[in-house]
Amino acid sequence: MVYLTRKEHFCSSHRLFNPKFTEEENLALYGKCAYANGHGHNYEIEVTVAGDPAPETGMIMDLKKLANIIDAEILEKVDHRHLNFDVEFLRGVIPTAENLATIFWGILAPRITAGKLYCVRVYETPNNFAEYRG
Ligand code: NI
Repeated sequence: MVYLTRKEHFCSSHRLFNPKFTEEENLALYGKCAYANGHGHNYEIEVTVAGDPAPETGMIMDLKKLANIIDAEILEKVDHRHLNFDVEFLRGVIPTAENLATIFWGILAPRITAGKLYCVRVYETPNNFAEYRG
């Protein structure tokens, strides 16, 4: 089994806030990410496909195709958007890296037809990332 990864980048705003909690509780829970008017992150996404390279091509899947799928299904919808307000598939979701990774997986998995989706990793900062493996 070989693992093939495409890395992409997007910039979005978000606010981490659960309306069930008070302002103070949200600040205690999410820190600066709970500030009222939101803020931006430079996100990275890594999408890993697992499979066996085809003997004729040496490839699991065409990385250009993978890049196009990520672009059309994810980047076009989240880049330079506010994740709390602007993205249909994130309505009602607290946009943590964990939730983004899980939801991106659900969108991408059915689109990967050569090999199998193995991991979606979302970096919110260079030091903090979440990954979902189904
Ligand atoms: Ni934040």
